[in-house]
Amino acid sequence: MNAGGLQVRAMLAADLEPVRALAEGLPEAPHWTEAAWRAVLASRCPPRRLALVAAEPEAGTVLGFLVVSLLPPQAELEAIAVAATAQRQGVGRRLFAVLAAELRSADVEDVWLEVRASNLAAQSFYRSLGFAETGRRLGYYADPIEDAILMGLSLAEMRK
Ligand SMILES: CC(C)(COP(=O)(O)OP(=O)(O)OC[C@H]1O[C@@H](n2cnc3c(N)ncnc32)[C@H](O)[C@@H]1OP(=O)(O)O)[C@@H](O)C(=O)NCCC(=O)NCCS
Repeated sequence: MNAGGLQVRAMLAADLEPVRALAEGLPEAPHWTEAAWRAVLASRCPPRRLALVAAEPEAGTVLGFLVVSLLPPQAELEAIAVAATAQRQGVGRRLFAVLAAELRSADVEDVWLEVRASNLAAQSFYRSLGFAETGRRLGYYADPIEDAILMGLSLAEMRK
């Protein structure tokens, strides 16, 4: 697969079912309720959310997604996930590159996120983009209880 040829576009209501199915298939992805997913697209109250999907250009199959909340000059990456069969092929990197361009136009300078201490693959992914650890929240996650690692990225210093 050529990640550069993927279609990266705004998440639509029609994407919610495949996006939820993709997330449900990954233990590390957020397992939000249907109402929480609908709220991502509703964005009636602040903070404004931005949600993107990466889809195969021909079949339209959703291979990955991300959700951020915008609080310029900051943004929080709330979720990012790529289908297990499409991982490690540049989909996550491509999604984030498109996001970074959108964030810059929205006057965002810094992105932050929380990640489970045990999710070393995601931490490695974030580091590959230029994120660095900025702190730790003890016992932040439930089921199982676990620390959150806080990571931050200045978009000006993002690795291409
Ligand atoms: C984290 C995740 C989104 C990365 O997406 P991806 O499309 O597989 O990542 P990419 O192929 O774009 O990888 C870019 C770089 O990140 C790093 N990376 C990605 N996955 C990695 C892994 N499993 N182990 C180590 N490094 C990894 C590598 O440096 C990689 O570059 P390389 O392949 O040239 O070495 C994906 O693994 C995923 O969906 N994981 C499950 C859900 C999750 O944990 N989400 C984050 C918490 S909400």
